[in-house]
Amino acid sequence: MLDLIIRNGRIVTASEILPAGLEIGVKDGKIAVIGIGLDAGPDTEVVDAEGAYITPGGVDSHAHIEQDNSPTGDTWETGSRSAIAGGNTTVLAFASQRRDETSIKPCVERYHAKAGSNSYCDYGFHVIVTNATYAVLEEDLPSLAADGITSVKLYMTYLPLRLGDGDLFSIMMAARQLGVTTMVHAENHDMVDQIAKRLAARGHTQTQFHAVARPQIAETEATYRAISLAEVTDAPILLVHMSAPAALEHVRAAQAHLLPIHAETCPHYLYLTSQKLHSHSYDEIDGAQHICAPPLRHDKKDLEQLWAELANGTYTVVSSDHAPSLYDHPNGKKRGFVVAEDGTKTVDFRVVPNGVPGIETRLPLLFNRTYDPEVGPPASEDAPVHISLPRFVALTSTNPAQLYGLAHKKGSLQPGLDADIVIWYPEATKSGSSSTVLTPSSSTESVASPSPFLITNSMLHHCIDYTPFEGMSVRNWPRYVFLRGRRVWDRDNGGVLGQPGDGEYLPRTKSRILTGQLGRTVTGMAYGERKAWA
Ligand SMILES: *[C@@H]1O[C@H](CO)[C@@H](O)[C@H](O)[C@H]1NC(C)=O
Ligand SMILES: *[C@@H]1O[C@H](CO)[C@@H](O)[C@H](O)[C@H]1NC(C)=O
Ligand SMILES: *[C@@H]1O[C@H](CO)[C@@H](O)[C@H](O)[C@H]1NC(C)=O
Ligand SMILES: *[C@@H]1O[C@H](CO)[C@@H](O)[C@H](O)[C@H]1NC(C)=O
Ligand SMILES: [Zn+2]
Repeated sequence: MLDLIIRNGRIVTASEILPAGLEIGVKDGKIAVIGIGLDAGPDTEVVDAEGAYITPGGVDSHAHIEQDNSPTGDTWETGSRSAIAGGNTTVLAFASQRRDETSIKPCVERYHAKAGSNSYCDYGFHVIVTNATYAVLEEDLPSLAADGITSVKLYMTYLPLRLGDGDLFSIMMAARQLGVTTMVHAENHDMVDQIAKRLAARGHTQTQFHAVARPQIAETEATYRAISLAEVTDAPILLVHMSAPAALEHVRAAQAHLLPIHAETCPHYLYLTSQKLHSHSYDEIDGAQHICAPPLRHDKKDLEQLWAELANGTYTVVSSDHAPSLYDHPNGKKRGFVVAEDGTKTVDFRVVPNGVPGIETRLPLLFNRTYDPEVGPPASEDAPVHISLPRFVALTSTNPAQLYGLAHKKGSLQPGLDADIVIWYPEATKSGSSSTVLTPSSSTESVASPSPFLITNSMLHHCIDYTPFEGMSVRNWPRYVFLRGRRVWDRDNGGVLGQPGDGEYLPRTKSRILTGQLGRTVTGMAYGERKAWA
């Protein structure tokens, strides 16, 4: 007897859209069967998808939740609630080592305690290594990998977090041996620091100068340096939140040499430009809402280039990099106000906390530029590049699940995996006839064509007082979300139905390399030369 049957939907996988008519049968929290005419028993919950697309629950592999360095950000309860309401059933967040800690075990325990009974969605941790001691490299990383933490994140910038090239090298060496994926935030710290100081000396400290201080070349140089370190150590890496087309050229070149170099981007880099960093007046700070690093880039053309790289596979994953701080709070974005002794107030972008919220809007925003391969991409001057629905599933769910060692449970609609399922609203079909569509504002009124969903902060479920995407319209939104077969989100009937504590901790297996392969000889090295020192 099945617990749940979902009928009348279009099932999207990372490679195709399955034929209409196939139904999903769920038993004990797992997908038991995908077939036709599944039998419902008296206790089976039956859901009619009304012709809508069905995608696997989103795996958001980069979110900062309740970190020590972000006092006004989301808690596990609010961050994971927001994830569910946006279709993400799995979140990989960070456990961050303090600089003075010689081990990473205590930080993992601290972050476990925070998430503990508070998460609405399933979760895991990447460890941010800030002090690469002998104990970390030789003892902690191996024992954490054995316990299911199979990824680390390293920073090349930010004073309290950044590592030098020597530490990057030794951590990559350790990670490679353990099958651990290394995530790298690549920006040239000293270049940024020098430019910021020189800007400040000339009084250029308003919010828009944040983007001036972090030019694309800072990302490009550091990206190439990280790739070089990965190549010489033969370690797979993922460059997080890449926003500079010139930096992506290095990624593509590395991939063409079959190096295991992966790249990630986020919706804010795809949709917003540095125009957003301008505040409304000289002594105002609303532009701080859009301060994140790397910064939003200047030119719409750059953004379109990123879409093209999403469409053709240079990028492996799209994450939210949800890293929120309250706007209207002295320890949030308004920390950027500097008050002089005489009481005058100025703005200094250098002390604004970095990051933007986005865990709930990730899927809907990305979904907005998808197309059904049977129909083909729409022609649009504004948005020349679209990605296919299977590619959307790969980028937001299947690839992150594989890359981070979760493919045995998550990332695909297939028998044996967790029944983490997103059902969208029905859309107009290819024949031009349109399905009945429920508008977001009213569950009873049907309209003939899909009504856009307007993003406003008041509809979101995080605890942050703004969204960088305020006022933007998207064509669809997750209507129902199932976590391990249980309905945890029903947009028109109750919203969030899940509870804190529904989410389970996910121990992970070794990462799967999705691009390139290990064991390449470095250009210019003799065959076997690495063996003399590695
Ligand atoms: C790492 O931690 C030790 C012990 O607290 C400390 O002495 C050392 O300075 C730290 N290293 C860095 C890079 O901060
Ligand atoms: C992907 O698209 C970008 C942008 O058009 C292009 O520069 C790049 O060469 C493409 N990569 C591949 C592998 O086709
Ligand atoms: C889930 O997270 C991904 C990655 O951050 C994001 O792109 C996507 O929009 C989110 N999905 C939903 C439905 O919120
Ligand atoms: C979503 O797509 C529609 C066209 O389908 C477009 O009008 C709208 O501006 C898009 N939204 C965003 C945020 O780009
Ligand atoms: Zn981040």
